[in-house]
Amino acid sequence: MKTEQGIALVNRDDDGVDRAFREDVLAGLRQRQKAVPARWLYDDAGSQLFEDITELSEYYPTRAETEILQSRGNEFAELIGAGRAVVEFGSGSSVKTPLLLRAIDPAAYVPLDISGDFLRESAAALAEKFPNLAVHPVEADFMREVTLPQEVLGMKKLGFFPGSTIGNMVARTAVDLLRSMRVTLGAENGERPVLLIGMDLIKDRAVLEAAYDDARGVTAEFNLNLARRINRELGGTIPLDALQHRAVWNDAYARVEMHLEATRDFDFSVANENFAMRAGETIHTENSHKFTRRSANTLLLAGGWTPRKRWTDGEGRFSLILAEATEKRDAP
Ligand code: AVJ
Repeated sequence: MKTEQGIALVNRDDDGVDRAFREDVLAGLRQRQKAVPARWLYDDAGSQLFEDITELSEYYPTRAETEILQSRGNEFAELIGAGRAVVEFGSGSSVKTPLLLRAIDPAAYVPLDISGDFLRESAAALAEKFPNLAVHPVEADFMREVTLPQEVLGMKKLGFFPGSTIGNMVARTAVDLLRSMRVTLGAENGERPVLLIGMDLIKDRAVLEAAYDDARGVTAEFNLNLARRINRELGGTIPLDALQHRAVWNDAYARVEMHLEATRDFDFSVANENFAMRAGETIHTENSHKFTRRSANTLLLAGGWTPRKRWTDGEGRFSLILAEATEKRDAP
């Protein structure tokens, strides 16, 4: 992958191994609670499996958020207004982004994604659907501050961060991201960008756990794909038949956790380093935090965003929040 400036975003060693992947996996496996950052779930196979997850009857977030985007177009138009540059954090999905763009009639669309392939695909699809819209994809890690293309610098900005992806982050990482979004969108220059962000809601534990442990086992495949990827890309020897998918609601942290649980004791190695698991021990692979109206607002405020309007789907499962960059002021 190359940025527009031609800087490779993926740093590989002489054997073609993604160094960041190897270091994250090794550091994670050395911990007492083994853990691998969730972003490594999304290789090509993992991204395809996530697409399959969004169609499962148990996985309600995508349908609930799409329902909001479909039904509230008039309100978005009125509150956000035409002529903005929409900056999407992550490549637009084929369904959600067009719903927003149709509703608000923006002047430009800037998808940000670390994966150049997905970025180019979705940007091309969007440009075809909206021939009069200026599309400026930027290959970048949106967890950091991103310099937007020259063409949109004079425009008012709307950040778009659907899917409750913010829920994958622990609070301090989420706050870091929200703050760097303010910088990316120009709040630091005295602009007042707005942000439309999806946040999934706390609900019955059984509903939450089923959404992450579907009957067909697609989410299990998605989770196990990480171990498969470690074996393939890092020369791992994890016995896949000795791991099972687990999705558990952690009430203290208000999140669904995905784990890979050992069904027996075994030894294995990754990149020539030796590890062992005992039966019942797990590798923690993903967090999906869930929110209340107030906890969502608190997180946004901590990140420098003032909530202005909130929508939920008809069943009250998912929220979409419009927030405005909080003005810097001193007292009280
Ligand atoms: C894409 C991160 C929003 O947390 O609901 C779905 C990922 N993991 N099933 C989520 C996911 C397992 C999803 N996000």
